[in-house]
Amino acid sequence: MANRRPVIAGNWKMFKTVNEAEDYAVRFLEEVKEVTELDIILCAPFTALHPLKNELEESVVHLGAQNMSWADQGAYTGEISAQMLLDVACTYVILGHSERRELFGETDQEIAKKVQKALAAGLKPILCVGENLNVREEGKAAERVKGQVSLALSSLSAEELNPIVIAYEPIWAIGTGKTASSKDAQEMCAAIRTTLTGLMGPAAENVPILYGGSVKAENIAELLNEPDVDGALVGGASLDPLSFAKLVQNAAAVVARVEGI
Ligand code: PGA
Repeated sequence: MANRRPVIAGNWKMFKTVNEAEDYAVRFLEEVKEVTELDIILCAPFTALHPLKNELEESVVHLGAQNMSWADQGAYTGEISAQMLLDVACTYVILGHSERRELFGETDQEIAKKVQKALAAGLKPILCVGENLNVREEGKAAERVKGQVSLALSSLSAEELNPIVIAYEPIWAIGTGKTASSKDAQEMCAAIRTTLTGLMGPAAENVPILYGGSVKAENIAELLNEPDVDGALVGGASLDPLSFAKLVQNAAAVVARVEGI
């Protein structure tokens, strides 16, 4: 984390009914309402977005979705548009999560179209990239991840890319309890920043690059101490409001220490 404003984003995946989401929001907000050191985002299932819009209004917590269509509107059964997300006060959208790529066959080309659409609509994409274990063991992790970033972003101008957030999520670390070492996370986030610099010049220094993969309240501080790790995308450890709040507070404490607040 250099001079960039850190981001802690929760990815609830396919968990939580409307009642559960509302209950979570009340308990979570109570714990984090004073946190000003970083941006907090909750990426909820589509059905919980509208109720959360009401719960989170005028709070420090931003709302995000977990996927979105590349189309504006039309005969696309089962899809959700950028406009629909804006309508329920989303400001962020996760795109290209490895579960979308691996389980639902999303390609780099589709993800590129989604990123373009989100940016054009005024949503901030959280573009996820990451290698699987085979690729890592072959020593090709950086190459794979840099390729994913280039394919998703290369048709956009530096100015268009300004609102982008990247999440580096090694597939072997997601939901496995196996976190990448902070050194590995730093190395990959730095490689991503180099690719971004090639695409958008010095503005790449302002892009938050998050790490994701078994992040918990106990390991967030170590990750945030790395210069190119600007926050975290958190799955399992974001499901309980009190433990996610603890993670956010631990992150905020690191920021406060670094900034000498
Ligand atoms: P995890 O998931 O924190 O449960 O490993 C991260 C993610 O998939 O975004």
